[in-house]
Amino acid sequence: MEIFEGVWKEKKKLLTKNLVPGKRVYKEKLIKIKNIEYREWIPNRSKPAAGIMKGLKNFPLKKGIKILYLGLASSTTASHFSDIISKEGILYGVEISKRSLRDSLSVAEARGNIVCINKNARKPQDYPWVEKVDFVFQDIASNDQPEILIRNCKTFLKPGGYAMLSLKSRSMNVVKEPKDVYKEVGEKLKKEFKIIEKVELDPYEKDHMLFVLKWK
Ligand SMILES: C[S@@+](CC[C@H](N)C(=O)[O-])C[C@H]1O[C@@H](n2cnc3c(N)ncnc32)[C@H](O)[C@@H]1O
Repeated sequence: MEIFEGVWKEKKKLLTKNLVPGKRVYKEKLIKIKNIEYREWIPNRSKPAAGIMKGLKNFPLKKGIKILYLGLASSTTASHFSDIISKEGILYGVEISKRSLRDSLSVAEARGNIVCINKNARKPQDYPWVEKVDFVFQDIASNDQPEILIRNCKTFLKPGGYAMLSLKSRSMNVVKEPKDVYKEVGEKLKKEFKIIEKVELDPYEKDHMLFVLKWK
């Protein structure tokens, strides 16, 4: 059953339609249903998938949209976003580590809708050529997660666009109770965004909250 545009749930597994049939990106299973190949989207490996398994109701991705992805790593999650937006869409992925980005380069080459950017997401002025996007996703474990997101949205997000923040409480503050950290970050985000939804990712990711946001 298609639960969001481009995302299926079959036998308790999340699936996206494989943009490059026959090719895996990580250890995901390839599953054929009525002659169409899908890739299993594993919630222990990807925070938005964990959010969906935890009952997320708002997932603002669609075929053809433009995405700015902060913290691309080796494109595990980005590859599923790439399936959903398909060839008509584009995903700009910013990653500071050359080592992680190396794995993403072959994924990007095979898929044709991922652009790898080896830059620091704290400095959006270092990738000014990126076009305006419909959606910004951020998964960088640091103590300035909301600021990094806001700075990038100010530069690249279209008015009324959406963002998603995967917040790691222990990176913001090791000793503070996660619920206090979520509240504090929520207050900061409210100044710039409408908070559409938030979902705790335990037990898939301990002490993480996924925020779905709309740019004011
Ligand atoms: C939790 S991992 C991302 C996992 C990925 N989102 C996924 O689901 O496949 C965080 C990534 O952010 C990168 N990172 C950390 N600080 C960064 C920064 N300032 N700018 C860009 N990337 C950064 C790290 O190198 C790491 O690859």
